[in-house]
Amino acid sequence: MKIKNICCIGAGYVGGPTMSVIAQKNPNIKVTVVDLNTERIAAWNDTSLDTLPIYELGLSEVVAEARGRNVFFSTEVDKAIDDAEMIFISVNTPTKTYGIGKGMSADLKYIELCARQIARVATSDKIVVEKSTLPVRTAEAIQSILDNTGNAVSFEILSNPEFLAEGTAMRDLAVPDRILIGGNLNSDKGKEAVQALVDIYSSWVPQKNILTTNVWSSELSKLAANAFLAQRVSSINSLSELCEKTGADISELAKAIGMDSRIGPKFLQASVGFGGSCFQKDILNLVYISKSLGLNEVAEYWHQVIIMNDHQRSRFARNIIKSLFNTVSGKSIGFLGWAFKKDTNDTRESASIYIADILIKEQAEIKVYDPKVTALQMQSDLNYLNTRSEFDNIELLKTENDPYKALQGVHAIAILTEWVEFKEYDWQRIFDSMQKPAFIFDGRNILDKNILEKIGFIVKTIGS
Ligand code: UDX
Ligand code: UDX
Repeated sequence: MKIKNICCIGAGYVGGPTMSVIAQKNPNIKVTVVDLNTERIAAWNDTSLDTLPIYELGLSEVVAEARGRNVFFSTEVDKAIDDAEMIFISVNTPTKTYGIGKGMSADLKYIELCARQIARVATSDKIVVEKSTLPVRTAEAIQSILDNTGNAVSFEILSNPEFLAEGTAMRDLAVPDRILIGGNLNSDKGKEAVQALVDIYSSWVPQKNILTTNVWSSELSKLAANAFLAQRVSSINSLSELCEKTGADISELAKAIGMDSRIGPKFLQASVGFGGSCFQKDILNLVYISKSLGLNEVAEYWHQVIIMNDHQRSRFARNIIKSLFNTVSGKSIGFLGWAFKKDTNDTRESASIYIADILIKEQAEIKVYDPKVTALQMQSDLNYLNTRSEFDNIELLKTENDPYKALQGVHAIAILTEWVEFKEYDWQRIFDSMQKPAFIFDGRNILDKNILEKIGFIVKTIGS
């Protein structure tokens, strides 16, 4: 079975880049990416490639190559569904904010709506691919909706979770560690569907990196992979606090344990806490699934990863307050970085939001510079917490487009994202423009402490 037409529902951080690369590597397949959000689709279609809705290194080049040739961005969802033999579901699955499982379980509302829409529209057999991260056994629900509401056509469900990290998504797509495809390997139709998807990836991914499993293993692997990664960050962050109390140094610790090849050096960088759209959401989801199955110890075990992360964020904010003589009221604090990590404009669950909120509660004024995040986004992130009025947030959090301006006159600087450019600033000039004593709280341990101390800064790092 050869696929000629692909449809992807959801033109977000995952759907957009993934489909652009699939189209780039398979010039004979027509790929249509659809979304309900007309502004987002318009931005994907904008001729000036600078205004793509998401920032990802190398993305605009791939879009430039494939857009209009065999990748199309559109709001005509029904047509794209019916034209395609294979449909990817890549809509968001946020944590539920209401009802049973509120604050933990994944909200599958959009997934179900997609399934119903596919069933209603499809007049020929389809392969439906779960791209979004989903609780284990969601494919069963999708299959049931498709079979019970469809037009007597047949559907095969595959799970094909993404493992893209933002900032390196294009590289992760071009040379993935692995492609995971879950399907019903016990039936001929299932095997055929799996093979159709394997063929698409085989255009550029070596066979040995393409893994096929049953659907449930694939669904659960995605949650498990994120939980393991986040657990490492929470583990190193828990030790950072111990280092601060004992004179041990977290960077030295990370190096020493990371050289054990069984542990390895990655995801051992102490930080102000992990953020991003996936870790918290997916672990909470894992906790919820475990609880629902009566596995309380399993649930509590993974929940602790989140508790540690919350603790690390508030500990950082409390440390700023304590160091500034136990009061930040009326003081201004400069933030370098708002995104949840470097090389992305994504701010979902970024530690900076929570730290700003705590400091504003203490009546501090925050001045932020981030190379890629807009003032509008920062305000919307703060407003989402619902702590105070939108008007107050505008008053108390200011965004500057120039780092030197953002840091002028502040009492302290917090480094919250590891943007490389921060290392290259004229720190003497910044010091001269600040209130004294001038504090730097390096929440990412990226600056050279010795140089800064020579200039006269009081430097606080994580875990030393
Ligand atoms: C994805 C996955 O969906 C999520 O499960 C995974 O854990 C991370 O990656 P992401 O691409 O980051 O999410 O989400 P987002 O950027 O919000 O994109 C989702 C898009 O789907 C949005 O543009 C939204 O408008 C669209 N959408 C949502 C639809 O087109 N239809 C819907 O019914 C719901
Ligand atoms: C993650 C997974 O890595 C990816 O495989 C999955 O598909 C989606 O979720 P992402 O959220 O984009 O990707 O970013 P990641 O690089 O994993 O970082 C997550 C958070 O952990 C960031 O806030 C980052 O700064 C933090 N982190 C990471 C640390 O604090 N220390 C580390 O050593 C590594």
